[in-house]
Amino acid sequence: MSAEEVERYYEAAARRPRQPGADQLHVRGAEATVELAELAELRKGERVLDVGAGLGGPARFIAERFGVDVTGVDITAAFVERAEELTRDAGLADRVRFVRADATALPFADGAFAVGWTQHAAMNVPDKAALYAAARRTTGRLALYDAIAGSGGPPEYPLPWASVAELSFLVTEDELRALLAGAGFHPTATRDVTEMGSRWMRDLPHGPAFENLGRALDDGRLRLLQLVAD
Ligand SMILES: C[S@@+](CC[C@H](N)C(=O)[O-])C[C@H]1O[C@@H](n2cnc3c(N)ncnc32)[C@H](O)[C@@H]1O
Repeated sequence: MSAEEVERYYEAAARRPRQPGADQLHVRGAEATVELAELAELRKGERVLDVGAGLGGPARFIAERFGVDVTGVDITAAFVERAEELTRDAGLADRVRFVRADATALPFADGAFAVGWTQHAAMNVPDKAALYAAARRTTGRLALYDAIAGSGGPPEYPLPWASVAELSFLVTEDELRALLAGAGFHPTATRDVTEMGSRWMRDLPHGPAFENLGRALDDGRLRLLQLVAD
C-alpha cells in the first residue's frame, strides 16, 4: 500500500462539507487535544510539527490555546489546501502553516521543532520505523495519540481511517514501544483513553465505520493511547 493510495482514500474526506468547527479528525476531538497538550507540557512559543495534520483543527487549537507556533504536514493535497483556507479565515496564518509531505520523509532540518505531534495518522503509515525516525531527526519530544491493536483479533472494516484492512497498519503497545525505542525515543508519560473514547463513540451519529470502531473499542480489539516521549 503506497502513500498515494492513502492520499486517494483521504481526498474525498478532505472535500466533504463539514459543520463549522468539526475540524479535529480523531476520537474525542478537542477534549483529547487538550489532554495531549497537557501531557506533553506544551510551552508558549515552542515550535510544533503536527504530522498528518488533516484539516488543521488541532494545529489551530493548540496555537490559540497554548501559544505555540505550528507547522502541519499532510500527504493529502486537498487537506493541505483546506487547512490553509481555514487557517487564513481564522486569522492564524502567522502562527500556523501547512506543507504537503510524507511523514516518513520530512522536508525539514534536523532539530527544527521542539515538539513532534501526531494524532490518528500513524494508523495509515506502513513504515513506522521511518515515521518515528523522521520525527526523531526533526523534533525534540514527541506527543502521539493513536489507535493501537488490542487483543482478541483484528477489527472489522471500514474504520474511520481505512475503508479496507489494506489501508490500516496497527501495532500493539509493545510493538509501538519497540519502534519508538528503535528511533531513540523514551516514553515519559502514557495514558490509555480507550474507555473514554468508547463512551464518546456511543453518542455519535453512526455509520458502519463508526459502529465498527465503537465495537472494537468496547471489546478490546482496539485501544486508544496517548504517549509522550523524549
Ligand atoms: C484521521 S486524519 C487525522 C488528522 C488530524 N491529525 C486530526 O487529528 O484532526 C489522518 C491524516 O493523516 C494523513 N496521512 C496519512 N498518511 C500520511 C503520511 N504518510 N504522511 C503525512 N500525512 C499522512 C491523512 O492525509 C489525514 O489527513
